Amino acid sequence: MASIEVDLTKITPGACVSYKWRGKPLFIKRRTQADIDIEAKTPLSVLRDPETPEQRTTIPEWLIVIGICTHLGCVPIANAGDYPGGFYCPCHGSHYDNVGRARKGPAPLNLEVPPYKFVSDSLVIVG
Ligand code: FES
Repeated sequence: MASIEVDLTKITPGACVSYKWRGKPLFIKRRTQADIDIEAKTPLSVLRDPETPEQRTTIPEWLIVIGICTHLGCVPIANAGDYPGGFYCPCHGSHYDNVGRARKGPAPLNLEVPPYKFVSDSLVIVG
């Protein structure tokens, strides 16, 4: 199926839930206010693939990304690594922040944001 519907009501603040979409892992992370505040302060000048949190999220609380490391395609671990609420890829040590931006290690690009749209505050369609 090309699209999936995800009910967001079961994802607790700070949690990241993994789904499958078009044969790929899809991560939906519910960002906490602390997550949002931390990355609002990160200057674009320190990023290798500069994107603002607003460019990567429709609603700041919800990060929706493909769970494939942009280095060589491993699946990163959520809520791990050097950046609070971020992602860590154990294959070669890439760290992503809590909006999925590549921050450290060999990953050249941010985690990919798929097309999605919110149908309501608690329901999103990906794809
Ligand atoms: Fe993730 Fe190499 S595949 S760091």
